[in-house]
Amino acid sequence: MTGNSCIVLPDDYKGYNLEFFCVPRHYEDSLESILIPSGLIQDRIERLARDIATNLGREPFAALCVLKGGYKFLADLLEKIKQCYRFSAVNSVPFSVDFIRLQSYEDDHSTGKVKVLGVDGLSFLQNKNVLVVEDIIDTGKTMQVLLEILEKEKPKSVKVASLFMKRTTVSSGFRPDYVGFEIPNKFIVGYALDYNEYFRDLNHVCVINEHGKEKYSKKNC
Ligand code: HPA
Ligand code: MG
Repeated sequence: MTGNSCIVLPDDYKGYNLEFFCVPRHYEDSLESILIPSGLIQDRIERLARDIATNLGREPFAALCVLKGGYKFLADLLEKIKQCYRFSAVNSVPFSVDFIRLQSYEDDHSTGKVKVLGVDGLSFLQNKNVLVVEDIIDTGKTMQVLLEILEKEKPKSVKVASLFMKRTTVSSGFRPDYVGFEIPNKFIVGYALDYNEYFRDLNHVCVINEHGKEKYSKKNC
């Protein structure tokens, strides 16, 4: 199967108690639960990499990472894509890596604004198979803005890989081509996903608690 189905965590999914895994001491009081342990994230990325490599075949591609949250996913995904090729008849496929930055969040709510940073100079994407690598699709509006910008560059194809997709009533209906996990409408942190720039240094994907939201809120930092 190389379609865009994914692991679905139901609304009543509680994840794991913090006591069962290692969590940095400085975050222990700020987390409700471990939603997805880092090992499971890696295993899922391995499969996404295989699906992507299978669909690309021998076609070179241009990876475009959405910073900052996408950096870990990008690094792990590309390593695993390379492994897939290495152990197949294709052996290797060239790819480029570039970064884009979009801003649309403050605290745990969408401001409804999308700021696009560092986008002058995307003309190299012309006629390329672009793989956009994103950490999370929430409303989908940010990604739609990005896709509009990319289409102007006349790429050969554009695919989106997002590690997480939130189930939310305010979704624009956008669905990425590759999704790791569909998650309940909770604010998650870890594996490079942040809350006001905190928690990127946490390996597991966790649900932040009320104390954590207060402790790391803009007004308190
Ligand atoms: N966590 C971190 N960043 C986000 C989230 C989230 O749950 N949703 C959208 N951006
Ligand atoms: Mg993101």
